[in-house]
Amino acid sequence: MATMLSQDELLRIDTNPHKADFPLLAQNPELVFLDSAATAQRPLAVLDAQRHFYETMNANPLRGLYRLSVEATQGIDNARSHIARFIGALDENGNPQSSSIVFTRNASEALNLLAQTIDGIVHLNPGDEVAISIMEHHSNLIPWQRLCGATGAKLVYFRPNNNYEITQQEIEEKIGARTKIVSVTHVSNVLGVQNDIRAIAERAHQVGALCIADGAQSVPHLPVDVRSLDCDFLAFSAHKLGGPMGIGVLWGRPELLDALPPFLVGGEMIDSVTETDAVWSPSPQKFEAGTQDAAGAFATDAALSYLEGLGMDVVEERERLLSMYLCEQLRGLDYVTVIGPDDPSRHVGSVAFDVANIHPHDVASILDMSNVCIRAGHHCAQPLLTYLGWHSTCRASVAFYNDKTDIDRLVDGLNSVWRIFNGR
Ligand code: ALA
Repeated sequence: MATMLSQDELLRIDTNPHKADFPLLAQNPELVFLDSAATAQRPLAVLDAQRHFYETMNANPLRGLYRLSVEATQGIDNARSHIARFIGALDENGNPQSSSIVFTRNASEALNLLAQTIDGIVHLNPGDEVAISIMEHHSNLIPWQRLCGATGAKLVYFRPNNNYEITQQEIEEKIGARTKIVSVTHVSNVLGVQNDIRAIAERAHQVGALCIADGAQSVPHLPVDVRSLDCDFLAFSAHKLGGPMGIGVLWGRPELLDALPPFLVGGEMIDSVTETDAVWSPSPQKFEAGTQDAAGAFATDAALSYLEGLGMDVVEERERLLSMYLCEQLRGLDYVTVIGPDDPSRHVGSVAFDVANIHPHDVASILDMSNVCIRAGHHCAQPLLTYLGWHSTCRASVAFYNDKTDIDRLVDGLNSVWRIFNGR
């Protein structure tokens, strides 16, 4: 099938120097994993780090005065400062701002934390507005629906144009004097399109609103720098960048985190407690009730080191080529409709598509018989699918550890699905 990729680019995605680092992929060469937008595979370095923590450093962090507990605490602190460096959360001297990194269970919890505490600094009134986009994952949509329901504020949606862009005109129309909070995904988990967070933040700040970015699908795939995005908060999960499941991050401007009330309470998030009252620890501990996932933080630290070893620019470029190839090969199948922009390079990692007259669940189940893993359904973004006129779609998503053969195997698998359903 035709491709816009040059021979050199095709050769680059034909070779795969990364798969060997991922035990699940290396031990199952027949497996075609094209669902990295749901969760990434984990390199051996991350699995080793998690095991190393439990084998050599296991103690409850923050609580003990003995060496093991101090080392566990150090593991969390090191991870915090590594994450801050990774997303460009640096102070004026270029040092990582560890206090701006709050550990949560995942990006969803980070966004729920914000939606449940932000009224403590924003003070929404009926008639105020919260702006999100129609392409939000439910985790960046339902928490705001609930906040608006509780306060009488209005939920306003940015809608992309026919080219799947949230235009400057749309940004200016939807963010106005009544807007108090703007929360938008950096990269859509369905379409793969990237939103201009900087432009959205600039407009939000002009009207005195706060700007939150959902980085769940961008931090694993692009170099992300909170200073260039100029947002006030950024949420993401470790498991989508090769870290463990069950740990996520909320980055916030330190002065805003300091001003927010706590989310969950109990454990070492306090400074002191009396029978009638409690005084909170400074942030980020203020937001981290109960025993933290120290092993998860330690393994996330290792995941970032692994990605930095490759270089996020290398990750971004390889995934760009893979996404382009994926998009082009799918477009070459006359029974497949690719959903999203025509320009294949605008699909950051994820490509949603429909197979004519075959339910996406059937497509995914039959592909699974050929060891090809894709996601099918509404992708936790039902309002987007409804807006685009779909009920359910297929979605293939790539990571740097994929190669051209994975995509060719998907195409072979889709041809089989088509033949099965059409009796050929
Ligand atoms: N949010 C994840 C996805 O898009 C689970 O698949």
